[in-house]
Amino acid sequence: MLITHDSDRRLRGEDIPSREITDHGVYLNRRAFMAGAAALALLPWGREASAQGALQPLQASKSAAYKVQDALTPYKSVTTYNNFYEFGTDKGDPAAHGASLKTRPWTLKVDGLCAKPKTFDIDELLKFPLEERVYRLRCVEAWSMIIPWIGFPLSALLARVEPTGQAKYVEFTTLVNPEMFPGQRRGLFGFALDWPYTEGLRLDEAMHPLTLVTVGLYGQVLPNQNGAPIRVVVPWKYGFKSAKSLVHMRLTSEEPKTSWNKAAGNEYGFYSNVNPEVSHPRWSQATERRIGELRRRDTLMFNGYGDQVASLYSGMDLKRLY
Ligand code: MTE
Repeated sequence: MLITHDSDRRLRGEDIPSREITDHGVYLNRRAFMAGAAALALLPWGREASAQGALQPLQASKSAAYKVQDALTPYKSVTTYNNFYEFGTDKGDPAAHGASLKTRPWTLKVDGLCAKPKTFDIDELLKFPLEERVYRLRCVEAWSMIIPWIGFPLSALLARVEPTGQAKYVEFTTLVNPEMFPGQRRGLFGFALDWPYTEGLRLDEAMHPLTLVTVGLYGQVLPNQNGAPIRVVVPWKYGFKSAKSLVHMRLTSEEPKTSWNKAAGNEYGFYSNVNPEVSHPRWSQATERRIGELRRRDTLMFNGYGDQVASLYSGMDLKRLY
């Protein structure tokens, strides 16, 4: 991402004190235990819980087919070390300011080149058959996490609107609301993207079974800082393709303009496939740090999903189309 006031060390995830890294079960138990205690708001790990209230649990079948075997990243890290520039550019801003996002009422408009455009209410989307899928998330900043997401394939949603033969891409758009998103108030921070945050996929990437419309993580609805109430997760691409708090998906014939590409086209391409052989102009992508671990790991081509997605790119020069 654009390095502003974050130091390199922080961008690489080397700054989470071990006392902040807490297993999710321990976290929930502690939270329940502390619920009656007035001390809740005083404790560092109680802050988000008290700001956003208890998160609604979600029923989801556990997918064996879409589960990486690596150890899960602790809930605490998943929900306090975030990129969500609408809340600010610091990793802690999304958790600190997340409570200002109101996720009801919420609708997602799906339109463009399709026979049956439709606006879905979030509660209708929560009725799709939900699956828990454990995916690797590899951020372009060379850190990664293992997260148990809850959602359903984007292909199931797109089937409802019946894309026409002209549709070649899907554009994703995040909510614009400067009252809810302090980072969208221009001038408040040194750096701002051109809002709304937009992202895009080729239609075959969008229809790929790995591409997940995501409504929850760790057994509950998404915390605001992770993109509540609805986002996409595209696990073989750098994390910035996985746009948060979506209000619009549009089927198009032309490649959508994307926020990071507009901000720094020489650093962030449209494809953004995880690729250890193509360095970011300012750092290598060959290795990564798993949040919560000290040693670095080798980054895997397509983030380890190559056997499932490499055929989407056969014949393409992935060094040029980064
Ligand atoms: N979506 C929006 N709307 N705004 C953002 O700043 N950041 C992206 C992506 N989606 C971002 C976004 C980046 S860079 C990453 S790495 C992931 O969200 C992080 O998702 P997580 O915080 O749930 O781990």
